[in-house]
Amino acid sequence: MGQEILVNEVVNLKTNYDKKEMQLIRRELESYYQKKYGKEGKKRLRYDIEALSTPNVAKKGFLSNIFSRGDWKIGTQQLYNSVINTQRGRYLSASSAIQMTELDRYYLNKPFAEAVIVKESTGQIKYLVSEVPLSEVEKKQLNQIKELLTDELNVDFKKLGSSEKTVSYLKKQIQIIIKNYKLKVDATSLDKIAYYIVRDYVYFDKIDPLMKDPKIEDISCNGYGLPIFVWHQQYESIPTNVVFQAAEELDKFIVKLTYMTGRAISIAQPVVDASLPDQSRIQLTYEKEVTRRGSSFTIRKFRERPFTITDLITFNTLSPEMAAYFWYTIERQASVIVVGGTASGKTVTINMLSMFIKPTAKIVSIEDTPELQLPHENWLPSVVRTGFGVSGKISEISLYDLLKNAMRQRPEYIIVGEVRGAEAYTLVQAIATGHGGLATLHADSVEAAIHRLESEPMNIPRPLITTIDVVAVQSRVRLGDKSVRRIVSVSEIVGIDPLTKDILTNEIFKWDPRTDSFVYSGRSYVLEKLVKRHGVVFDAATKELENRKQLIQWMAENQVRDYKDVVEFIRSYYLDSAGVLERIRKGN
Ligand SMILES: Nc1ncnc2c1ncn2[C@@H]1O[C@H](COP(=O)(O)OP(=O)(O)OP(=O)(O)O)[C@@H](O)[C@H]1O
Ligand SMILES: [Mg+2]
Repeated sequence: MGQEILVNEVVNLKTNYDKKEMQLIRRELESYYQKKYGKEGKKRLRYDIEALSTPNVAKKGFLSNIFSRGDWKIGTQQLYNSVINTQRGRYLSASSAIQMTELDRYYLNKPFAEAVIVKESTGQIKYLVSEVPLSEVEKKQLNQIKELLTDELNVDFKKLGSSEKTVSYLKKQIQIIIKNYKLKVDATSLDKIAYYIVRDYVYFDKIDPLMKDPKIEDISCNGYGLPIFVWHQQYESIPTNVVFQAAEELDKFIVKLTYMTGRAISIAQPVVDASLPDQSRIQLTYEKEVTRRGSSFTIRKFRERPFTITDLITFNTLSPEMAAYFWYTIERQASVIVVGGTASGKTVTINMLSMFIKPTAKIVSIEDTPELQLPHENWLPSVVRTGFGVSGKISEISLYDLLKNAMRQRPEYIIVGEVRGAEAYTLVQAIATGHGGLATLHADSVEAAIHRLESEPMNIPRPLITTIDVVAVQSRVRLGDKSVRRIVSVSEIVGIDPLTKDILTNEIFKWDPRTDSFVYSGRSYVLEKLVKRHGVVFDAATKELENRKQLIQWMAENQVRDYKDVVEFIRSYYLDSAGVLERIRKGN
């Protein structure tokens, strides 16, 4: 068998191979390498496959020639993944033939699934999910039990309620099946088999270990045959060894995920933006309708414990001084719009800011997908409903409808998850009539934000825009080799220039990238306005700001990070500020 035939065989690339075909290709390659390199052949092949993922073209060598034609990316990825999968056991041991250093290892679902983070000789960091392996016998048993379960189970898992209930129900069913069909499964095998069944039926299938990793913030799949990428708190965006090999496998999974959100996805309705039962936000596309590489999904994981002011101070997203400023002004119903790019942390910031609102205030929030978590008892969260079904019989309830309705509830504060369209006008009107308002908006700067508010489809007249008090710009910025979130600028909207008719802004805080610290401009018009409106002596306001800054600093120094604790401190401060200050000065 000469190189030509081999090359032909591999170049004849389909976009997808089944397992058998993949094995065949590998065997062919192996025998070719063995002929060429003798004993070293297998090892060389692994090196070369490994090298395919390096950006360095020279290193890619022979194999990349094969794969440089046609749809090589999918071919190489698949080959690469098949090697990773079969070699995983060996990969993880220190004596691995492929140069990989283990950086980190921790349990995701003890003792069944582990995360292993490795650095390859190419410099690429990878996230490997390592799950308990099944023997051939166990694999057969797993499939058999799955089939029997599908035949015998006549339940809608969603109706069973909480996951724990479903899990114990399912485990019982597995035992019944084993007994009824007299299957020979020993206790350890049963545990492993039950792990996979529960993983696939109740939880998130292949990506379940990733969903269980609290260090993973986002999970994204850009198509079949491609590794799933995660955003890891420590290692940032890295590929994993989890892959949906075939288009059908991914499509099926997408349908299942969508079902979990209570929505439907189809060729007629190929894009869904929704939330999972655990409140994670998810975006899905179906088949090749809108995304070229087939179905795709992105999950932004829900945090059970929302980020608090202490967390954001610890990350240095903002300073205690800025936090005190927001607290003081928001308490007096100032309106704050947080702007920034995708995933810059806008929603997290407004959620954190809303914890500063007086515990007794009436708040209405309006969102596309439920993300906000507030401690307030008098909080009415509302979420839009998109019309589903082709006929559109169930009518849509938009942000605009919700906001109009919210105004009838006489809230003191209105929080809009993200303003995009007609609802912006109503929000700004509410702000103009004295309501407190918090919102996020997609824009990179104050100017861009104002421009967006003034243009289609929001069309807010300039005089109304000036009723917004504060615009904070949040960004994801690079700091050394890390990507961090910073509130890079806080500006007050002061008014309209009588001559130029431009909107006048006053940048009150600015992030200095050199020192990674925040600079205060020294004058706040919003503070002056609020003080005047509420008849407070300016010095008293300054003192109050200083006290709140101290409390926030104290919480950061003492790592009072938990949501409940932070909320409790804010609540007690509202009730008895002197008492709280006394306590922290005494150090308890
Ligand atoms: N200050 C922060 N420091 C570190 N991580 C953060 C910070 N804020 C948010 N994150 C993380 O970033 C991710 C995105 O945050 P968030 O949803 O607030 O962004 P966003 O700007 O609202 O995004 P989108 O434009 O999609 O609405 C979250 O997974 C969160 O865990
Ligand atoms: Mg958001």
